[in-house]
Amino acid sequence: MEKIKLENLPVGPFPGMIVGALRNKKPTYTTVGAGGCACLEPVLCVSLKNTHYITEGIRQTGYFSVNIPATEWVREMDYCGMVSGHQVDKSTVFTSFFDPAGAAPLISECSLNFLCRVCDTKEIRGFTMFFGDVTAVYANADALTAGRPDPLKIDPIILLGGSYCCLGQVIGQPFSEGKKLNR
Ligand SMILES: Cc1cc2nc3c(=O)[nH]c(=O)nc-3n(C[C@H](O)[C@H](O)[C@H](O)COP(=O)(O)O)c2cc1C
Repeated sequence: MEKIKLENLPVGPFPGMIVGALRNKKPTYTTVGAGGCACLEPVLCVSLKNTHYITEGIRQTGYFSVNIPATEWVREMDYCGMVSGHQVDKSTVFTSFFDPAGAAPLISECSLNFLCRVCDTKEIRGFTMFFGDVTAVYANADALTAGRPDPLKIDPIILLGGSYCCLGQVIGQPFSEGKKLNR
């Protein structure tokens, strides 16, 4: 296969995530692509620009949420990545709910919700990467099959380059497909 060296770094693929936090006791939501799992224990990380409105909220409260929207929420997700809480109140873009385990708002409309308590931070080039111990996880009932999160029902938004995409189909199971490779 011929390889083309790219001049512009493409962004992604990442799942679209909406980070939630309280600032001045009010929910605020910011779209994030830079983030994911930090290790084998349930620790998530998100990287947020230091000047973003939400960043100070996470610093003050020590909690954030990571919410996975389904494709039907692409407009709201994009909006939360276009406007800043410095200018616009984003507390009513979604319906917020709370878990007793922590002071960050979670999003009712999103298929999956993770509540995280900040356990570490790393500054990198004007951004802060927040690492958070997952203290509660919620899923929409209609996003489960036999009690487990179902990828096609969760229907995440995938960012790649300049596009938002959706999943097509399940193509295999981890730690299983590799066994079929005859090496
Ligand atoms: C698809 C998408 C992904 C984004 N990913 C990030 C990210 O990973 N980190 C970040 O700091 N900003 C990211 N942004 C930009 C912020 O979401 C945006 O600047 C937002 O308005 C900041 O809001 P706030 O000031 O209310 O926190 C992203 C925006 C979009 C649309």
